[in-house]
Amino acid sequence: MSRKPIIAGNWKMNKTAAEAREFVDAVKNNIPSNELVDTVIGAPAIFLEGMKKGVKGTDLQVSAQNCYFEDFGAFTGENSPATIAALGVEYVIIGHSERREYFHETDEEINKKAQAIFKHGMTPILCCGESLETYEAGKTAEWIEGQITADIKGLSAEQVSHLVIAYEPIWAIGTGKSADANIADEICGVVRSTVEKLYGKEVSEAVRIQYGGSVKPENVAEYMAKENVDGALVGGASLQADSFLALLDFVK
Ligand code: 13P
Repeated sequence: MSRKPIIAGNWKMNKTAAEAREFVDAVKNNIPSNELVDTVIGAPAIFLEGMKKGVKGTDLQVSAQNCYFEDFGAFTGENSPATIAALGVEYVIIGHSERREYFHETDEEINKKAQAIFKHGMTPILCCGESLETYEAGKTAEWIEGQITADIKGLSAEQVSHLVIAYEPIWAIGTGKSADANIADEICGVVRSTVEKLYGKEVSEAVRIQYGGSVKPENVAEYMAKENVDGALVGGASLQADSFLALLDFVK
């Protein structure tokens, strides 16, 4: 089965509104067709409405970087998946290691978020990844299998076949120390076989799996050439328009 590649930028907590507008204007008409690749920007929630207006009529898609799992209520400071979906936003990144580490997000919460995102017709980009300690102890596969199993619990086969999962080893994020493409392929393969164990072959062949961690224009093609890698989730190299566009050159 051939899976459509998906390249997603994760801006994290960067840019002013003016900088976000400038980026979108520089990029939106210069990306490859969405028949070839899904191109996504994960922006801070405060920019989502403006971003959706800015990308109108183009193939550039928009992702939130987080949401809450309840639709509405007394949850000061949170963003509702219903509100995000109403803007026309296509994706929500969940379970990023920064959220797990700094904001103490648990697999149980991430699972509830995944359910809520699907309920509102959006696609979760579910992140998983191990610490350096786990990696060095040779326990990556076990760790990843545990995270994925807990995070997708209760989702339907149909939902999982539309899911995007990003494998981001924590030791490779923002460090310039990217995982070797063979390791990325191997662990993305662990993600796929975990999905297969839980949902069967057809679903595991449909789910799209990204690698993330110091991906840049110079190394993206190496990852994209691998069997189990269907895309990339990119932090630092997604912040500048030129660099973001260069991440898409592998399509040509
Ligand atoms: P870098 O590409 O800056 O290493 O960040 C990766 C990441 O965390 C994307 O979500």
